[in-house]
Amino acid sequence: MAVETSRVGAAIRDEFPIFETATYLNSCSQGALSHSVRAAVDEWLAGWDANGAEWAFWVDRNEAFRTAIAGLLHAEADDVAVTTSVSQGVSALFSALPLDGERNRIVISEYEFPTIGQIAHAQELRGAQVVHVRPGDDGSISAERFAEAIDERTALVCCTTLSYRSGHRHDVAAIAKAAHAAGALVLADSYQACGAVELDVRALGADVVTGGTVKYLLGTAGLGFMWVRPELHATLVPTQTGWFADEDIFAMSIADYSPHASARRFDSGTPPVPSLYAGVAGLELVTGAGVPAIEAHVRGLAGRLLDGLDELGATVATPRDPSARGPLVCVRATDVERLVATLGREGIIVSSRDDNLRVALHLYNVEEDVDRLLAELASHRTLLA
Ligand SMILES: Cc1ncc(COP(=O)(O)O)c(C=O)c1O
Repeated sequence: MAVETSRVGAAIRDEFPIFETATYLNSCSQGALSHSVRAAVDEWLAGWDANGAEWAFWVDRNEAFRTAIAGLLHAEADDVAVTTSVSQGVSALFSALPLDGERNRIVISEYEFPTIGQIAHAQELRGAQVVHVRPGDDGSISAERFAEAIDERTALVCCTTLSYRSGHRHDVAAIAKAAHAAGALVLADSYQACGAVELDVRALGADVVTGGTVKYLLGTAGLGFMWVRPELHATLVPTQTGWFADEDIFAMSIADYSPHASARRFDSGTPPVPSLYAGVAGLELVTGAGVPAIEAHVRGLAGRLLDGLDELGATVATPRDPSARGPLVCVRATDVERLVATLGREGIIVSSRDDNLRVALHLYNVEEDVDRLLAELASHRTLLA
C-alpha cells in the first residue's frame, strides 16, 4: 500500500525558488515566495488586462479567502472578517468597545506586537486605562500573571498567541478563562502562529482571533483576517467602518449606518485584490500540506536546532517545552545585528528582535537548513551570548 506523505520539507521545497540561492529561516518576517503565489498574482494582472474591471470576480475572491481562513481556523465564514491588516481589524474592534465607563481597562501582554500597544494606548484618549502584564524571570507570561491584572474593570485582554520577540506561546485558553470569569473579552493576535500552529478558535478560547498572510500563510502584505465569536456580533458595533462592512454593499446608500449582521461588520473598504490572489494561493499550499503535518515537521526541526544550540552552549530565549513554543526559536546574541549580517553573507537569512537572533522554521525547511545554520553559528560562536 502506498504511504501518502504530506507536502512538507523536501516534498515542497522546489515550490520556493529562494532555496536555490539561500537558506531561508525568516518566515516570522515574511514567508518565502512560491511559484503558485507568483502565478496567482500573474493571473490577477492577466485578468485585468483581458477584462478590465473584474469586479464580481474580485468580490468572489474576497469570499474565497474568507472561506479558506474559516477552514484554517475550524470556524464558519460568517464569523471571519477580511481585513487589510491586523491593525485595521483591531482598530475597528476597539472602536466597538465603550471605554468611558466603569469597564475601561485594557490588559496587554509585554509580548504584543507594537500595533496592539499603539491601538490600546490610543484608547486613553477615549477614557481607557492600559495595564501591562510583564514576563516572569523565565521569560514566560503565565495565565496567573494575566489573572492578577484582570478584574471587573477589564474590558479586553490582549494576549498574542505566540510572541514575535521570544517565541513564547501563551496559554490563551487559561487566560480566556480568567478574563471571562471577570466579564472581559479576549483578543489573541495569532499572526506568528497561523499557518504553522494548528488553531481551532473554539479550543483557543479567545473571543477575537486575528492574523495576516505575510508570514506562515505564504501570501503577501495588505491582507489579514479577524474571527469574531458569533455570539458577540450583535453587541460589537464598530464605529470605525467602511462600505464593505455594510449589510448590503450593493445598496450604495449614504442614508444610514447599517453594519452587516455577521463578522463582515469588521471588513472595511475595497478589498486588497492583488493580496487576495496571493493570499488564497498561499493558503492552498498551507492547507494542502495540512497544518498538523506542518506543526509536526517544524517541531522536529526545532528540536534538532535546540539540541545543536545546547551543544554550542548558547542561551536560548524560547521555552524548551514544545507546547510552550511554535515555529520561532530565539537565541541570545552579543551583537545581534552583526550576527544577522554575517549569516546573511553566508546566504542564511534570519532576523532579530531585542538581543535575540530569530530563527523561524516552516514547512519548506529541512534538516540541512538547521545544520547549515548551526555550522555557521559554531564558526561565529563569540557572537552568541
Ligand atoms: C504578532 C504580529 N501582529 C501583527 C503584525 C502586523 O500587523 P499589521 O498586519 O497591522 O501590519 C505582525 C507582523 O508584522 C506580528 O508579528
